[in-house]
Amino acid sequence: IHIDWNEKAAEKGGFPHFMLKEIFEEPEVLRNALAGRIKNGRANLPEMENVVPAIKRARNVHIVACGTSFHAGLVLKRFLEDYAGLTVEIDVASEFRYRNIHIDENTIVIAVSQSGETADTLEGVRRVKVKGGTVIAVTNVVGSTLARESDVVVYLNAGPEIGVAATKTYVSQLAVLFIIGAYISHLRNEKDEIRQIINELEGMPTIFEGTLSTMNESILQLAKEYYQYRHFMYIGRGYGYPTALEGALKLKEISYIHASAYQAGELKHGPIALLDREFPVFAIVPDDALKAKVLSNIMETRARDAKVVAICTEGDQETGRIVNSRIEVPRVSDPLYPLVMSPYLQLFAYHIAVLRGNDPDKPRNLAKSVTVE
Ligand code: G6P
Repeated sequence: IHIDWNEKAAEKGGFPHFMLKEIFEEPEVLRNALAGRIKNGRANLPEMENVVPAIKRARNVHIVACGTSFHAGLVLKRFLEDYAGLTVEIDVASEFRYRNIHIDENTIVIAVSQSGETADTLEGVRRVKVKGGTVIAVTNVVGSTLARESDVVVYLNAGPEIGVAATKTYVSQLAVLFIIGAYISHLRNEKDEIRQIINELEGMPTIFEGTLSTMNESILQLAKEYYQYRHFMYIGRGYGYPTALEGALKLKEISYIHASAYQAGELKHGPIALLDREFPVFAIVPDDALKAKVLSNIMETRARDAKVVAICTEGDQETGRIVNSRIEVPRVSDPLYPLVMSPYLQLFAYHIAVLRGNDPDKPRNLAKSVTVE
């Protein structure tokens, strides 16, 4: 017998691309990110013990990151504001490193970088260290430069990611950042809702497992309707805004369709002028306090003849009635919507890229890790 054995195909474990394989690894990746980190319903991070005094006395908290890691950071910013009573600043590292912000021994910086080698993030961290601030690193790569130069490191434990556009490491970043957020909230000003969120977070791998395969098929069908458009506008509010940014980033990275993201409330200050029947909208509609506002923003886009795809909560007829297509996700606590929604935005971008004939694993002009300025 002749066996056609191909090493590359074997590495992909039967999937046509690493990106799809890595999206399907997300349930396991989430399990690994959370393993041992929840004890009696509380965040358990022994690696953070050295920085407990710094967290308790912190006056300024900054988050620094690039690309997809920056979007995970945006979710943490809001979480810390909601549950730890902290006002948090966030910047992309290429801006942060050149800003004249006050940093001293009461400053905490959370640096998020999958690779731990992004040049701008490292330079940002070095500035903080020189001025006496405390750096908490969140990275996937053991022994990376970021891990070595920070005060403490919390690892993602996601395993290597081959696809250039981050997928499984984004969901693991979100999971780990929720744990860090809960840990900091506990030290500062814990609110009761955190226990419920941690409890739901523990159930997330099972939710992912139960929905990925069936959703993949329906998202492929949806992608067939939309892959020929030249533009896409993602809109969201609150925790939905980082999701809009990350959905648009994924689409532009691998499909080369022009995609931008806006806070839905900003539409009428400019972006709505772009919309017409050739410019579809992807609306992020979690069932949270801002949902009614997002729905009225969607109505504004419909009035310009834009087609609308929405990602919303299971059984949400109200949203269903006003959009062209919808993707439904299980109901979760507000901060967890970015997590539960992310695989579907990734799959949408993936299928569109493949339908357009692109290799989603190796997008043109992009590198997995940007180690120069
Ligand atoms: C590059 C990659 C992105 C990644 C970004 C930040 O642009 O293509 O996927 O999000 O760098 O990388 P980091 O390793 O710092 O998370």
